[in-house]
Amino acid sequence: MLYEWIKALHVISIIAWMAGLLYLPRLFVYHCEVAAGSDTSERFKVMERRLLRAIMNPAMIAAYVFGIGMIVLTPEWMKQGWLHAKLLFVLLLTASHMMMAKWRREFAEDRNTRPQRFYRIANEVPTLLMIGIVIFVIVKPF
Ligand code: HEM
Repeated sequence: MLYEWIKALHVISIIAWMAGLLYLPRLFVYHCEVAAGSDTSERFKVMERRLLRAIMNPAMIAAYVFGIGMIVLTPEWMKQGWLHAKLLFVLLLTASHMMMAKWRREFAEDRNTRPQRFYRIANEVPTLLMIGIVIFVIVKPF
């Protein structure tokens, strides 16, 4: 039962994390359209800061805690190829989270120089990684 409870909490936390990873770049796309210092730009800064700090950061930490919890309860998982592939994609997902935190800081300091198109492409990276992660963990292809 304990394993199933941890897995349920793991899936809840990854859904919250993914929601933020898919929404924050979208906010950056619209933030590019407004003038630095404008009321709308200041509102985007508040939304981006709250999304990252109040949802994405805690959800990422919870996903790791519950994920590692399941590995501690089932150490033989660490010999499995699917988990190696999954953890590689999770590290890339974490790297994209860290990049978004850096870009958020640049918007907050009115220092963004990247075009909308950059953030539209950046928005696709977590989606592609998530597709790989879910296939690895549910299908366990190797
Ligand atoms: C953050 C580090 C992570 C670790 C250490 C981790 C580890 C694990 C482990 C050991 C399981 C149990 C597998 C099983 O019982 O069959 C699991 C289940 C799962 N993980 Fe993760 N995971 C992590 C992140 C993620 C992320 C980012 C996603 C999705 C984007 C994800 C999606 C899932 C899903 C959907 C399950 C349930 C699979 C099932 O019911 O069979 N995990 N995870």
